[in-house]
Amino acid sequence: MLLGPSNTTGKVDDAFIFIVVCCVILLAIVTISMVVFLIKYNRERHPRPERVKESILLEVVWTVIPTILVVFMFYFGWVDFEYIRNPPKDALTVNVTARQWSWLFTYDNGRQEGVLNVPLGRPVKLLMTSVDVLHCLFIPAYRIKEDCVPGMTTHLWFTANEPGTYDIFCTEYCGVGHSHMRSQLVAMKSEDFQKWYSAAPGRTVAELGPKILQAKGCLGCHSLDGSAKVGPTFKGLLGRKEAVVQAGKEKEIIVDEAFIRQHILDPLSAAVKGFPAVMPQIPLTDEQLKTIVNYLVTLK
Ligand code: CUA
Repeated sequence: MLLGPSNTTGKVDDAFIFIVVCCVILLAIVTISMVVFLIKYNRERHPRPERVKESILLEVVWTVIPTILVVFMFYFGWVDFEYIRNPPKDALTVNVTARQWSWLFTYDNGRQEGVLNVPLGRPVKLLMTSVDVLHCLFIPAYRIKEDCVPGMTTHLWFTANEPGTYDIFCTEYCGVGHSHMRSQLVAMKSEDFQKWYSAAPGRTVAELGPKILQAKGCLGCHSLDGSAKVGPTFKGLLGRKEAVVQAGKEKEIIVDEAFIRQHILDPLSAAVKGFPAVMPQIPLTDEQLKTIVNYLVTLK
């Protein structure tokens, strides 16, 4: 078996390579015989077609060999499918919430993250759902993917073998922000994971702000580093000149604290020009709203 970054990588690759090798061998046999027949039974060599008697042996051989081959392909696929679909009982559970357009990973102790941190060598089970439309969680390096469906819980599992950071993509077209719906899986040593997992949550606005933005899905559409996503960036928000459409009229405003608060509470009251008006109303407690606004105004 091939080794890989996870226990599932080798399983999928083995079945895939086995099928590809079978196909390439069959392709070679068919192509070579075709060329040989073309030359050997050319019209110049055989001006008069002959009657060919059927051969039972040949019929049996070219029926039985491909049948055995496809049964083998099925067997490999089935055994690994069984393995990949059935998580072990002692797996670490992580709840995955997909939404337009970001991922939220919630751990049993209440920790919420936008990236998926996992320990090496321990089975991890993802329990996945969506709060809006169909999404699909895909970890290419691990060769696994599964749909996230509103009102349903689907699952995936894996054991990380190699430390590293791997891409997570959404592979179900889910709206304008689909291509931004990316995250990462970070596989870390068991000790590092324990340290991260049991770390006390921060209390300051600088620590809490990004956490809430992440947990509420804001960072799916708004970046903190100045890059444009589905919505405008949060960087340098306070004091920025912005063209907005308010009550059907276009005008220029300077973003201030009151505008930020108002926009969070009633996103459709003003649409920023150049961006689609798709922001949902996010349920927030007064405390969370205060923290977010206090945090956003600090982003220079
Ligand atoms: Cu979520 Cu595409």
